[in-house]
Amino acid sequence: MKILGILGSHLDTGVTAMTMNELMSHVQQPNTYEVVYLENYDFKPDIFGKQDPVLDKLEQKMLESDVWVIGAPTYWGNLAGQMKDFFDCMRQRLVRFDHTGGTHPDRFKDKHYLSFTNCYTGEFENFVTGVTDQTFRTIDKVMTAAGVIKIGEFVVPGTYGMKELPAKKKRICEKYGNKLNNVKKRDDSTMKRYIELFVMICVMALITMLIQLGLGLLPKTDFFTVYISFALIFFILLACILHFMTFVKHRRR
Ligand SMILES: Cc1cc2nc3c(=O)[nH]c(=O)nc-3n(C[C@H](O)[C@H](O)[C@H](O)COP(=O)(O)O)c2cc1C
Repeated sequence: MKILGILGSHLDTGVTAMTMNELMSHVQQPNTYEVVYLENYDFKPDIFGKQDPVLDKLEQKMLESDVWVIGAPTYWGNLAGQMKDFFDCMRQRLVRFDHTGGTHPDRFKDKHYLSFTNCYTGEFENFVTGVTDQTFRTIDKVMTAAGVIKIGEFVVPGTYGMKELPAKKKRICEKYGNKLNNVKKRDDSTMKRYIELFVMICVMALITMLIQLGLGLLPKTDFFTVYISFALIFFILLACILHFMTFVKHRRR
């Protein structure tokens, strides 16, 4: 597994860089990592007929890696400009366009990403006011368009005057660092899981309704019509809720 850290901050010695280094210190063999500090790459947007060679280099690194760690500070309540500029310049390469200009995942589909940000705002205030929410929303929007799967996100708040990462944040870096070591390639067993769920519902509904029948709580007529319709309706509703919670809702998170 190759892990690529993308550091989008003004300083390569600031809190974002410290967090990136702390995370990467937990990457274990045979996994490998590399961190690109965007300030060291003088990229420009591609122009028609001429691809930017610096973007070519960065794109190659992104293609060769399995997991991206995207780290950038929150500036003015949003993603810091360096990272945003990188995403803007990479747009043509991150997605495929259809004939109406709609975007679709392309070559980066099913890679994984972890995102983190930081801000002066303290933990409680950030929890209440969501200062860093828009930063993650912007990252998630780009990654979702590119079909890249999210591993997680975290914030280092209260960074004013911070010279070292607090122990609590180091533990979070350790947790996510371990996650980076164990990212599984996308398994496409979604259909299998829904079939298993359907079987479980059928079995449980049958047992429950037979008990109800035994207790005289269900009419004996049309038992199987009632049973089959119950199992089907229950499964469809549960599957819709699960789909919403796992795909639609998490697309933003
Ligand atoms: C231009 C700019 C805008 C900022 N805007 C915010 C902000 O809106 N909210 C906040 O809590 N902190 C804000 N900050 C503070 C940064 O988020 C904080 O300094 C961050 O931890 C810097 O990361 P670094 O040490 O990696 O550079 C801003 C800092 C700069 C330079």
